Amino acid sequence: PNLVEKVKEKGTINPIKNPNSELAISAKRGSFVVNERRSKNERAKQAKDSSSLQGTALGNVLQIKEEKEVSATTSGAEEKVDKELIQKQRKSLPAFAVRHELLRTIAENQVTVVIGETGSGKTTQLTQFLLEDGFGSNLAKNGERLMIGCTQPRRVAAMSVAKRVSEEYGCKLGEEVGYSIRFEDVTTKEKTIIKYMTEGVLLREILMDANLEHYSCIIMDEAHERSLSTDVLLGLFRNLIRRRKDLKLIITSATMNAERFMNFFGDVPQFTIPGRTFPVDTLFSKSTCSDYVDAAVKQVMTIHLQNYSKYKRNDGDILVFMTGQEDIEMTCELVREKLALLDDPPPLDVYPIYSTMPADLQRKIFDKPSETRRKVVVATNIAETSLTVDGIKYVVDTGLVKLKVYNPKLGMDTLQVVPISLANAQQRSGRAGRTGPGLAYRLYTERAIGEDLMYIQPIPEIQRTNLTNVMLLLKSLKVEDVTKFPFLDSPPTDLLSNSLYDLWIMEALDNCGNLTSLGHNMMVFPIEATLSKLIFLSCRPQFSCSSEIVTIVSMLSVPSVFFRPKERAQESDAARERFFVAESDHLTLLNVYNQYETQRSKGRKTAAWCSKNFLHHKSLSRARDIRNQLILIMKKNKLPILKSTNNDTIRKCLCAVYFHQLATLAKTDFNKGSVYTHLRQSYMNMHLHPTSALNSGAEAMASHVIYHELILTTKEYMSCVTVVDPVWLLEFGAIFFDTTPAVKQRIQEQYGVSLRSKEQVIKELERDSQALLVEEAKVKKESKHSRL
Ligand code: CDP
Ligand code: MG
Repeated sequence: PNLVEKVKEKGTINPIKNPNSELAISAKRGSFVVNERRSKNERAKQAKDSSSLQGTALGNVLQIKEEKEVSATTSGAEEKVDKELIQKQRKSLPAFAVRHELLRTIAENQVTVVIGETGSGKTTQLTQFLLEDGFGSNLAKNGERLMIGCTQPRRVAAMSVAKRVSEEYGCKLGEEVGYSIRFEDVTTKEKTIIKYMTEGVLLREILMDANLEHYSCIIMDEAHERSLSTDVLLGLFRNLIRRRKDLKLIITSATMNAERFMNFFGDVPQFTIPGRTFPVDTLFSKSTCSDYVDAAVKQVMTIHLQNYSKYKRNDGDILVFMTGQEDIEMTCELVREKLALLDDPPPLDVYPIYSTMPADLQRKIFDKPSETRRKVVVATNIAETSLTVDGIKYVVDTGLVKLKVYNPKLGMDTLQVVPISLANAQQRSGRAGRTGPGLAYRLYTERAIGEDLMYIQPIPEIQRTNLTNVMLLLKSLKVEDVTKFPFLDSPPTDLLSNSLYDLWIMEALDNCGNLTSLGHNMMVFPIEATLSKLIFLSCRPQFSCSSEIVTIVSMLSVPSVFFRPKERAQESDAARERFFVAESDHLTLLNVYNQYETQRSKGRKTAAWCSKNFLHHKSLSRARDIRNQLILIMKKNKLPILKSTNNDTIRKCLCAVYFHQLATLAKTDFNKGSVYTHLRQSYMNMHLHPTSALNSGAEAMASHVIYHELILTTKEYMSCVTVVDPVWLLEFGAIFFDTTPAVKQRIQEQYGVSLRSKEQVIKELERDSQALLVEEAKVKKESKHSRL
């Protein structure tokens, strides 16, 4: 069954098939039953194994003690990766064996779909093959050397792969081989030939240069992931390849979904890199348990201890699939704890990996497998296809993934842990069979798969996410009718129309759906539309607080700066409260940043200051990087950087942008905190997040608040909230708010503000877009050749 059809049939885009199903998973140690496909004999053997799983921990310790010495002598002699070894590794990859045929197919066709098992060398080798085949010496009309671009759905993958390829190529990262992710460009203009980048970066490059004139080839890697940007890029490429006949497009995909890409580009050839995989036995959990972290930890310990005593060495590494940073860290911690309880345990290295992790820590994961020390990698679904860790023999699969699903009616994201699809489950298990026969422990029952509780394929992001930013991008690319854009799978209509409506509210689109001058300008920043608008408004004389707003925007663009370890919760809460600005979380963020800057300017060690104050140093320094870059863009576009010390003005500016994300206080319960209701959906209750500054005092009684985001986790939480004055709502949100003429009159006199009516706002929108059209016509006339 076609997934899109399924979704359409259901009429919703909620990916949970059955929230009460037993996929609310977990498993007990050793309670695995064997997959039907296995023979009776094997089953009998497995039964024996699982019965012995019970006694593991203590039973093994004795035997393992003897091995200790062995490990101590060999572990120090770690091999240095030399050039020869790297080249040998390269040549052993499946992609290398078919290099010639692959390059021929690419030479003969403009678009090629390349399919291959993970780890076959698609990501690291294709770019180098193309380079060696002469694509790197192609010259543009102006004599400039053309690049080979390779997109990745994830930042982590872009960085780590570029690092690896730079080593293989033998250059410093950022020279011939580099990468570019949002706010971080590690390439050299004159030197870089192979450029790895996130899909988002390439999208922005298309905005500047519609024909991608700097590239001879683009590899769209991991296209099967179907991220939002993948789908938009695919649509854009459909036209782009007609305009640039000399541009090669290569789409790589896991086997699932490959047909669709081939048809999308009108029957292009498919090239399959012959796989080299070993059989993987899939073991299901016999019963369900409530705690998947606990179950995974037990499984890891069982695998580790039992096989160590059996093989007297590390017989293979373990890969665990979790859902996000939190449960990954928890799993790692618990495994280490369990290990520490044992007397002289066999060596086990525990590594987390998730997308926001710093690059230097990620590197360790790719260290060569060791004979003596077992490695356990606890990962998000990033390890499903994007990253290949060599030497994995055991996979522990929770069967879960964390998914963000957007509800267009409520303007709310729901962040939920949901069951993976069958395709994902297969992919995860397959990771155990790369270097030899493997074992996959699924922490869910076989029934969960059989009873049609899982989707066959995951739902593409474009059908479950907020499309506001993408619509603005398409409009900027002069796609007038977005409903006619060639989407591989069309987004649901309410998702589309809601994002266009939001852009209209934002005054980025006019009444006919054309870009306004504000909408046009908003694209200069590589950030979400609302944040971009915020910067533009803050530059207006009325607000004059762009310096502060840019700080707030930067802080909103990084993971939370507040650090709250479970065992020191109270202490860290107290530390956070010292930064509170009672009426605003936005101003609280500003306050944190300003204090951080003060420390910096005094030459103090900011890392120490951060840890003392329970702040993530990494997040803050990244916010600083982002801020610097945004300031550069502002200067380039001649936007004034204006300082303000008036907190009310800053709040007013926030209100002028976020008036449509408004909540009003419904009731205050002293035990449960304040309950707010949504402006547009008055039946929906919303809550301050427990960490909000507004919880701290009388401000919790504030009658009107605007919020940055609305996320449903355990409750509907508003994240980042600021108290606003109702008068401001009349002033800036005339499209929504109105009052009687008498009240208006009184407010105008008392506050000295002029209140527009809804009709006036709409009229202004019309005029604004007309002005833009005139402007554009002028530019076109002057420059003769238009961008498209
Ligand atoms: O893209 P695909 O899954 O086909 O394979 P790849 O990512 O090109 O990986 C090929 C080989 O390079 C694997 O054996 C990886 O372990 C290795 N590799 C690495 O050592 N370090 C990286 N950062 C990426 C890949
Ligand atoms: Mg790859």
